[in-house]
Amino acid sequence: MDTNIVKHWLRLSRYAASGGNQQQWNLKIKEINKEKLAINIRINKPDSPQLTDAFGVGAMISIGCLTSTLNAVGKCLGLINTKLKVIEEKELWSTQIQLEYDFLKNNPSKDKLSTFLARRTHRGPYTKQKIDSTELNICHGLLNPEFKLLHLNSQRKDVISFVKDTTYLRLTNKTLFSELLNEVFIRVYNRKANTGLPLDTLGLSKFSEFFFKLIKYNNLFFSSKIFHFGSIFESVVLPLNKCSDIYYLQGQKDDASSWFHLGMSFQDLWLALTEKSIVLQPFANNLLIYNYFKDKNLAPYHKKHRQMLEKWNQELNEKLNINTLKPGILFRIGYPVRPAPLSPRRELTFS
Ligand SMILES: Cc1cc2nc3c(=O)[nH]c(=O)nc-3n(C[C@H](O)[C@H](O)[C@H](O)COP(=O)(O)O)c2cc1C
Repeated sequence: MDTNIVKHWLRLSRYAASGGNQQQWNLKIKEINKEKLAINIRINKPDSPQLTDAFGVGAMISIGCLTSTLNAVGKCLGLINTKLKVIEEKELWSTQIQLEYDFLKNNPSKDKLSTFLARRTHRGPYTKQKIDSTELNICHGLLNPEFKLLHLNSQRKDVISFVKDTTYLRLTNKTLFSELLNEVFIRVYNRKANTGLPLDTLGLSKFSEFFFKLIKYNNLFFSSKIFHFGSIFESVVLPLNKCSDIYYLQGQKDDASSWFHLGMSFQDLWLALTEKSIVLQPFANNLLIYNYFKDKNLAPYHKKHRQMLEKWNQELNEKLNINTLKPGILFRIGYPVRPAPLSPRRELTFS
């Protein structure tokens, strides 16, 4: 097979979204013949998984995002997906995704290739412009019927309270906070890091960036909410208030295949929105509740934090129709005030 095309395909596909930009994937590629190749995807399970993804559901969504991107980039280059099989194992982390692609030399549509670099997580401010409902209906139409897209604009206040409370939890729990500090890096000092979140992609003001650097380099920790008031306002309250729409993509079954397909649908939707110059930011705070209920003794939460997670599990269910114990992801969409910086990627290595 034309190795230049395969290299081009992988170089663009690595720009798929992934939780915390961890890119926890491992690919095996096999050329079956000149017109067909097979890919096997597995999750790179960390030695000690983070509390924010203790069971690997975030990593499952992420390999769904990668698969959707491989399919979409492949389509532009004449590589058509002909097989997709999810091999479920006892542990979610051991799931395997088997893919096959046929190489059709005629009619590749390379004009859409720019979408894959243009798709980014926009955490900065969005304009006041509302997205036209016809645009949104097209996106609804793209969805796999297994998933429901809940429109939450009329429940914005509840959504903001939920994201605020769970973000405070991430900032005031020592383990969760140190995981966050480890994910974020300062581009200038760490040019070689090809995973993780560069500080300048977080959409923070210069003052908050300075405060963050101070905390990171001095390993500081503030358990009181008051210290985080400004950053919560900037990273949760303003963004969720000033965007066109808020959605929750909800799946029905808590199994590997459903988490994976949620990731695929989410990335399909994100790419379709990118083509319309609509931008998106996920808020995967629901995963904190999922992980807590999967094993209540896993995290060193004190009583107040446990009560808060239990309260939100119930309220999201009753008020917003969200089931946090099943696959799902919350996100906001709109038009950006300015472009978002590109975050780094490691090579899509394969064996
Ligand atoms: C499962 C999953 C969860 C994510 N959760 C969040 C989140 O809670 N907040 C956020 O700002 N971005 C979130 N993201 C976006 C990733 O951080 C982002 O895709 C990654 O850093 C790569 O950057 P890019 O999307 O700009 O290419 C999430 C993405 C995925 C796939």
